[in-house]
Amino acid sequence: MYQPVKIAPSLLSADFMRLGEEVAMIEAAGAGFVHIDVMDGHFVPNLTMGVPLLKSLKPATSLVCDVHLMIDNPLDEIPWFIEAGADLVNVHAEVLDDDGLVRAVAMIHEAGKMAAVALKPKTPVSALAPVIDQLDMALVMSVEPGFSGQSYIAGSDRKVAEAVAMARAAGNERMLIQVDGGIGEATAPLVAAAGADVLVCGNAVFKAPDPAAALQAVQAAADVARLAALAGGEA
Ligand code: DX5
Ligand code: ZN
Repeated sequence: MYQPVKIAPSLLSADFMRLGEEVAMIEAAGAGFVHIDVMDGHFVPNLTMGVPLLKSLKPATSLVCDVHLMIDNPLDEIPWFIEAGADLVNVHAEVLDDDGLVRAVAMIHEAGKMAAVALKPKTPVSALAPVIDQLDMALVMSVEPGFSGQSYIAGSDRKVAEAVAMARAAGNERMLIQVDGGIGEATAPLVAAAGADVLVCGNAVFKAPDPAAALQAVQAAADVARLAALAGGEA
């Protein structure tokens, strides 16, 4: 059965003085996940949100709390975010060796949560290899991590297709692909056609004049492209 693309609005672009209203708005508009960008000022220059915010957010929403850890020491911090309510934890491949990746995924799974590995634009999909058969999701970054509102890096859709192929070759049929950075109505079709399942949207949703309508427009554009790609593949 056709699985629609899920939109994961990134709270980094929301109005922090009205965070509760913003979360209720994306939930009512049909978002699938709520994306929480955690930055530590080391892995990326920016400092954003963390455990206390997630603790307040979790009981206020039924959306999947999708935590993107842009931090140097995920193995130390994973338990904190799980305790605070993360449903899905993304760790970056660049800060973990093979053994570290295996440990991170195991730690997340032992807590009964979904595990994802995120890749910076220049990190090849082969970095997923040590855990490819166990991942619930891979996150393909289509901008350099650190800031919302950047432009989509052309060619990121090819990496999405490579990640899909790698998961299927490893017998992992369930692994979702998330794309993060510069996704809006114009770029969503490219990545959806390549096999993306979850699209992070920061500015394209929260900075739009009508954020709910913008969310739905991105989803509609993505679904049209995904359905066309699936139909093409079956022909
Ligand atoms: C960037 C973050 C993204 C970002 C997305 O480091 O991981 O989630 O907030 O924002 P947009 O959609 O505006 O590029
Ligand atoms: Zn993110």
